[in-house]
Amino acid sequence: MWAVLPLLCAGAWFLGPRTCDATALSVSSYEKFHFQSWMAQHQKKYSSEEYHQRQQTFVSNWRKINAHNARNHTFKMALNQFSDMTFAEIKQKYLWSEPQNCSATKGNYLRGTGPYPPFVDWRKKGHFVSPVKNQGACGSCWTFSTTGALESAIAIAGGKLLSLAEQQLVDCAKDFNNHGCQGGLPSQAFEYILYNKGIMGEDTYPYKGQDDVCKFQPKKAIAFVKDVANITLNDEEAMVEAVALYNPVSFAFEVTDDFMKYSKGIYSSTSCHKTPDKVNHAVLAVGYGEEKGIPYWIVKNSWGPYWGMDGYFLIERGKNMCGLAACASYPIPLV
Ligand SMILES: *[C@@H]1O[C@H](CO)[C@@H](O)[C@H](O)[C@H]1NC(C)=O
Ligand SMILES: *[C@@H]1O[C@H](CO)[C@@H](O)[C@H](O)[C@H]1NC(C)=O
Ligand SMILES: *[C@@H]1O[C@H](CO)[C@@H](O)[C@H](O)[C@H]1NC(C)=O
Repeated sequence: MWAVLPLLCAGAWFLGPRTCDATALSVSSYEKFHFQSWMAQHQKKYSSEEYHQRQQTFVSNWRKINAHNARNHTFKMALNQFSDMTFAEIKQKYLWSEPQNCSATKGNYLRGTGPYPPFVDWRKKGHFVSPVKNQGACGSCWTFSTTGALESAIAIAGGKLLSLAEQQLVDCAKDFNNHGCQGGLPSQAFEYILYNKGIMGEDTYPYKGQDDVCKFQPKKAIAFVKDVANITLNDEEAMVEAVALYNPVSFAFEVTDDFMKYSKGIYSSTSCHKTPDKVNHAVLAVGYGEEKGIPYWIVKNSWGPYWGMDGYFLIERGKNMCGLAACASYPIPLV
């Protein structure tokens, strides 16, 4: 296989780098060295033709990171597992390619008037939030947002902190407008769990990160949903109330190129949109707070524990940042 690859690529190699030379970045030896350390750290291997392309992408990403960090932003950027990919590649592998039915979700959550505590972090209130997981190269973020929300809701309602099966949602929740690795919505996944009568555990239905046939076994279901609370479109204050009074809340927002490079601090963007048709990634709000006058959400992501702040990020709160209040919901568990 490896012996054949250079031959297959020979034609492309001949045309590729040469015709691109006009736009190619000139890479310093310092940058070359950094690319190789990054490759070793992330156990990356490329064919000789791909190497040149990946190095170019890496260097372009790295320069953006350094330029960003030299300015006075509320968040910092760093290299991570995505640093050899263009945003177009990332979108195709990790994010929703098509708009989901966010705005079709009718709100049934009735909000009170507050006031709410200034700081909430469910990770610190008890054993209520499971470890950060990794979705891999599959647009299944919505399944991790769903399991994360239900795992926490059950633990908070007095049950055990379980680890639930994302793969069941990838494989089996299609009748509820979910599309496996092509996307879906937590609210629609909660509906599936409600009507399907349960979800199995990670141990009995392990995660594969690709579409497969449904292997749900009703007798092995360990978690159940009694009802679904949908938060009204763009009612970010209702999200605050739900996180303050009840449990973590699933939400979606629009990921843009700069977000992929996030490392710490409060993420804020002027380039993302606020409309429900643009959201492309689902996550879980596990708390909120405020720092130096900037309110933020504490959010659990599904890109593994080495991305961001141990798998988490902070995002500015109170401005419907990147459409984060477009489609929020949480399950009411049966315990
Ligand atoms: C950087 O931003 C902070 C908060 O927005 C501000 O207080 C500080 O003065 C800024 N520093 C510079 C050098 O602009
Ligand atoms: C949105 O909802 C409509 C009507 O139920 C459905 O036909 C369509 O497939 C849904 N779109 C997505 C992306 O799920
Ligand atoms: C909540 O949202 C889901 C999916 O978007 C929808 O099927 C369900 O009817 C909504 N529930 C209520 C009570 O509006």
